[in-house]
Amino acid sequence: MSERIRNTTSFIRSRLGLTAGQGAEVGSWPRPEIGIVLGSGLGALAEEIEVIAALDYADIPDFPVSTVAGHRGRFIYGRLAGRYVLAMEGRVHYYEGYPIGEVVLPVAAMCGLGIGTLVVSNAAGGLSPLFEAGDIMVIEDHINLIPNPLIGPNDPSAGTRFPDMNEPYDRSLIALAHRVAEEQGTVLREGVYIGSTGPSYETPAEVRYFRTIGGDAIGMSTTPEVIVARHRGVRVVGFSLITNVLTGRPSRLGGRATLTHEEVIEVGARATARLSRLVREVVARL
Ligand code: HPA
Repeated sequence: MSERIRNTTSFIRSRLGLTAGQGAEVGSWPRPEIGIVLGSGLGALAEEIEVIAALDYADIPDFPVSTVAGHRGRFIYGRLAGRYVLAMEGRVHYYEGYPIGEVVLPVAAMCGLGIGTLVVSNAAGGLSPLFEAGDIMVIEDHINLIPNPLIGPNDPSAGTRFPDMNEPYDRSLIALAHRVAEEQGTVLREGVYIGSTGPSYETPAEVRYFRTIGGDAIGMSTTPEVIVARHRGVRVVGFSLITNVLTGRPSRLGGRATLTHEEVIEVGARATARLSRLVREVVARL
């Protein structure tokens, strides 16, 4: 896998025209400082990036391409709020059937390209009874219930065999997100994100279970990507867009009737401007 990550990283670097640094010039564009995973909810941010180069995932040899409606697939390199960023427009999920090593390949490649900070975003169901659809939550911590992407031989040049996960999400970046949100008049929740495989949504009993184990929001991505970034020493800030609230009650007892992917996409689309504005300003002040 590490060989694969290195090859993919070199390919992306040369196709985007990025400098390799240390005299080994490939292209002339500076190393991206910040990587951004544009999940459902951050679509609008893509439009704010002053694009210098873009690369379709389909043009990268053996690269995982998403099969889910509403998820585009390309890297965008450019400037956002004066910073050089590399954004993933679309990601693949474990439930699509890719091995976990493939799911995290794009993030591993961004780390290989030299990002120092990773901004992740996702759509999630609200487990906390305090949350409402349309809320934005900064991720304080996570519970990973998707296979760990570091299983298998460890590449010591990437990071240690047993990485510390005491502070997966950077406290100072969480504080920055709160300051920016307050200035912008955006209500910002904070909580624990559970990364679960999906693709079926949760049963009422599972909702109660996920609350009991400490979750505030649940989704089907992000945690493996964050593990890879932390393994490689990249600091992380993450945002969940709460597209629906999970009551933990069956519909016959007053819980919700049905939840559809279309609804998740639609609520995500309505809140994307607020989340994009917040993330843009956080990036500006990193
Ligand atoms: N559950 C899991 N993933 C999700 C949900 C949900 O309710 N909403 C958006 N992504």
